[in-house]
Amino acid sequence: MKTNRTFTMLKPDAVEDGHIGAILAKINEAGFKIVAMKMTQMSRRDAQLFYAIHADRPFFSSLVEFMVSGPIVAAILEKENAVEDFRALIGATNPADAAEGTIRKLFAKSIQCNAVHGSDSDENALIESEFHFATREIF
Ligand code: CMP
Repeated sequence: MKTNRTFTMLKPDAVEDGHIGAILAKINEAGFKIVAMKMTQMSRRDAQLFYAIHADRPFFSSLVEFMVSGPIVAAILEKENAVEDFRALIGATNPADAAEGTIRKLFAKSIQCNAVHGSDSDENALIESEFHFATREIF
């Protein structure tokens, strides 16, 4: 995958609250092109693997239960400087610290139920994209 791509999930809280359309509109307005997208529900094993880097953190089991609690929307986004620009668009992990106008400021409920995920590096964008999508699902 090219390095001008990042991976995102609209998390169960955002989907349950009916924010899919509004969040995708913000993503499009910010200049990202959607090159892969699906609505799916992660299994417990999926969530444990996806967030394996956080396995030792005290919030890990709660995070896994949250991520399997309902459907998510997974997508791959394309834009120059995608990883960094998308993290700026979504704002800080904790919505209380997120800048005005960011997706998490607008839609997140808490540090855990924070509406969206965004990859933190080109390397992880590729790993996370391949976790969720087959090559034939990426355009
Ligand atoms: P995300 O960007 O997907 O990466 C890891 C996730 O763990 C994060 O968003 C939050 O959903 C969750 N998370 C991070 N820190 C905390 C915390 N202190 N308490 C609970 N959940 C957290």
